[in-house]
Amino acid sequence: MRPPSKEVEQTIKTLRDKIRHHEQLYYVLDQPQLSDAEFDKLMQKLKDLEAEHPTLVTTDSPTQRVGGKPREGFVKVPHSSPMLSLDNTYSEEELRAWERRVHELSGRSDVDYVCELKLDGMSLALVYEDGKLVRGITRGDGSVGEDVTLNVRTVRSVPLSIPKEKLKKAGIPADFEVRGELLMPLAAFKKMNEEREAKGLSQFANPRNATAGTVRQLESRVTAERRLDYFSYMLLRNGRTYFDRHSETLDALDAAGFKVNQNRKVVHSIDEAWAFIGQWEAKRDSLPYEIDGIVVKVDRTALQDELGFTGKAPRWAIAYKYAARAGITKIEGIRVQVGRTGKLTPVAELAPVLIGGTTVRNATLHNMDEIERLGVKIGDWVQVERGGDVIPKVAKVVEDKDHPRGHKTFHMPETCPVCGTKVVRTEGEVDYRCVNANCPAKLRETILHFASRGVMNIDGMGDALVNQLTERGLVKNVADIYKLTKADLLSLERMGDKSAQNILDEIENSKKLPLERVIYGLGIRFVGERTAQFLAEHFGSMEEFEKAGVEELQNVNEVGPRIAESIVEFFSIAANRKLVERLREARLTLTGQKKQRGTKLVGKTFVLTGTLAHFTRDEAKKMIEDAGGKVTGSVSKKTDYVVAGADAGSKLDKAKELGVAVVDEKALERLVG
Ligand code: IVH
Repeated sequence: MRPPSKEVEQTIKTLRDKIRHHEQLYYVLDQPQLSDAEFDKLMQKLKDLEAEHPTLVTTDSPTQRVGGKPREGFVKVPHSSPMLSLDNTYSEEELRAWERRVHELSGRSDVDYVCELKLDGMSLALVYEDGKLVRGITRGDGSVGEDVTLNVRTVRSVPLSIPKEKLKKAGIPADFEVRGELLMPLAAFKKMNEEREAKGLSQFANPRNATAGTVRQLESRVTAERRLDYFSYMLLRNGRTYFDRHSETLDALDAAGFKVNQNRKVVHSIDEAWAFIGQWEAKRDSLPYEIDGIVVKVDRTALQDELGFTGKAPRWAIAYKYAARAGITKIEGIRVQVGRTGKLTPVAELAPVLIGGTTVRNATLHNMDEIERLGVKIGDWVQVERGGDVIPKVAKVVEDKDHPRGHKTFHMPETCPVCGTKVVRTEGEVDYRCVNANCPAKLRETILHFASRGVMNIDGMGDALVNQLTERGLVKNVADIYKLTKADLLSLERMGDKSAQNILDEIENSKKLPLERVIYGLGIRFVGERTAQFLAEHFGSMEEFEKAGVEELQNVNEVGPRIAESIVEFFSIAANRKLVERLREARLTLTGQKKQRGTKLVGKTFVLTGTLAHFTRDEAKKMIEDAGGKVTGSVSKKTDYVVAGADAGSKLDKAKELGVAVVDEKALERLVG
C-alpha cells in the first residue's frame, strides 16, 4: 500500500472537524444544520478514506463511535478521588434544615446555590489527557470503577477530543476529569424494550437499569445502537474541583463542548431553590428523560471545601427527591418471599402497569400487619407507588364503580414456601419467619449478601449463579465459595471457560478485602456496614472479635446491648465458629489495623476554619481524631480549640467572642504530639 499523501491526511482532518462540528450541533446543542442524509454522506466519505488508509485511523475519529468486537470483561480502575453520592430529603422542612446547617457550619447566611435536575441514570467519570478522552470509568463502589472506555466512545454527547484552543478559551487545562450522568432517554428506552419483546428477550425495568446494562455491554456495537446520552456536572483536576464556583464549572464545560443540562439556575436563597423544585415537579413529565428530583449545590468551591463530607455524601449538596409516582392496577395474586433472616414478605403480583416509564409487575406488601391495615384482598384494584430505588409498594385500595373489590383473603402460609418448615411469629413481633437455619432461601440470600458489591464484591455472583450453586449443593455456606473449582463452575448452565475463570479471579480478589467486609459479610443480625467497621477497628482481628463478651463489645463505638447480644449469640453457635475457621483456612483477610486512638486529646473538641497550609482539612481531622479528640463544624462554648488557617472567617470571630482558644497549625501539631 502506498503511504497516504499529505492531501489525504488533510482531507481526513477537515472531514473529521466538520463531522465533529455537526455532531456537536446535533447531539449537544440540539440544533442540527444538516439533514441526516447529508450528515451520513460526510461520515461515509470519512469511512471510505479511512478504509483506504487504515494507518490514519485514530481512536478519536468520529467513525470509531460505531463500536467494535466483543471484549472479555472490564478492567477495574481506581478513581482520582471518591465518587460520592448525595444525601436525600423529601420535604421542604428537611431542605430548610439543610440550609440552616450550611449556615451554621460556614458561619455565613449569604450562600449562593446552584439548582440542577437530578437525572436518573448512572454516574460516569471521563478522563481526558491532552484534550483527548482516554478513559470512561463507572462509579463502581465509589473508589474503584470499571473501565468502559470503548462503550463510552459510542455515546454521541461525549466529546472524543477537544481542540486545545477551545479548552483554553473555556479556561480548562488539557488534562482533566469530567463527571456526569449517563442516561437512556425515554424514547430510546421504549424502542429498545419493544425490540426486545419482539425478539422474546426479557425487558429492562427502567431506563436506569437499561443504562447500566448498556454501558456494561461487552459488545460496544450494542451500546452504540442504544443511543445513550451524557450530561456533565463536575470538572476535576488531580481529583480536585478546579473552578472557584460550581456555576463557573458548568459554564466552562458548556463552552468546551460538553453537554450540560440547561435546566439549571443559580439562586441566592432556599426560597428560590424551593420555587425551582416546584416548577420542575410540574414540568418533569415533559422532559425526554427521567429525573427523580432536584440537586441543590453550594456554589462556591471554597465553601464546599469548608463544609466537607459525611460518610459517602458531601455536606455541600443535597438531593430533594420528588414524591413517588403512582398508578392503579389489579392484584392478581400474592406470593411470599423468604429473606436472609428468614423473614416472610408478601408480594403482590400485579397486572402490568406503566408508572413513570417503568412497567411494574410486583409490589411489596411488607408484612401481614400492612395487609390488614390496607385491607387488601386478592382481586382488588390498588394504587401502586414507585420512587427511585425502592421496590414499588401498594399504597391503598381503590374502590369505585370501575374498580370493584376483590374477594379472596390472603393468609400467611403456615409453612415456609421454600423449605416447608413451620413458620413462626414471635410474640410482639410483626414478622413471620422461617426458623430453619438450613432453609435454601436463607442460604441464597446470605450468599447474595456476602458476594454483593458493598461486601466481598464478587462480581458475577448474582441471582442466576447463586441459584444454581445453592440448588446443586455446591455452596452450602459462604465458606464453600472459596472451595469452588473451575470444574464446578463449568458444570453449570451457560458457563464458559472465560466466565468461570473471571468468577474464580473475583473470588480470589475478594480475599484481599479488609476485615470489616468479612465481618459485615457474616450476616450477623444488626451488624451493618458501619458497625462492622467499628468492630474491626476496635478488635483488629477476627480472633479477638470472636472471643469478645457482651461487656467488652459494648466498649465499641455505637454498640449497645442489642447488637452485643446478637454477636455473642452468633458465635455461640458451633456452625458459625466453624464457618469462620474455614474462612481463615481459605486465607481471607481476618486481621487488620487496630485503630490505636491516642488519648492525648480525649474529651477535647476542635473546630477547623480557614485554609491550612500544611495539610488538608481531612488530614487535620484525622490527626485530631487519632489522638482521641473530636472535630465539629461550629464554634460554641463547648469548643476547646479553634484551629485557624488563612482567610478564617466568622468562626474565628465567634471563637474570639466566646473566648475559645485559637491555635495555628504548628500548635495543633504540638497538641497532637
Ligand atoms: S452531583 C458529590 N448532580 O445522583 C456529588 N449528581 O444520588 C455527587 N445525579 O451518584 C453527584 N443528577 O449519579 C450530581 N445534577 C446532578 C445529578 C447527580 C443525578 C446522580 C449521580 C449521583 C447520584 C446521587
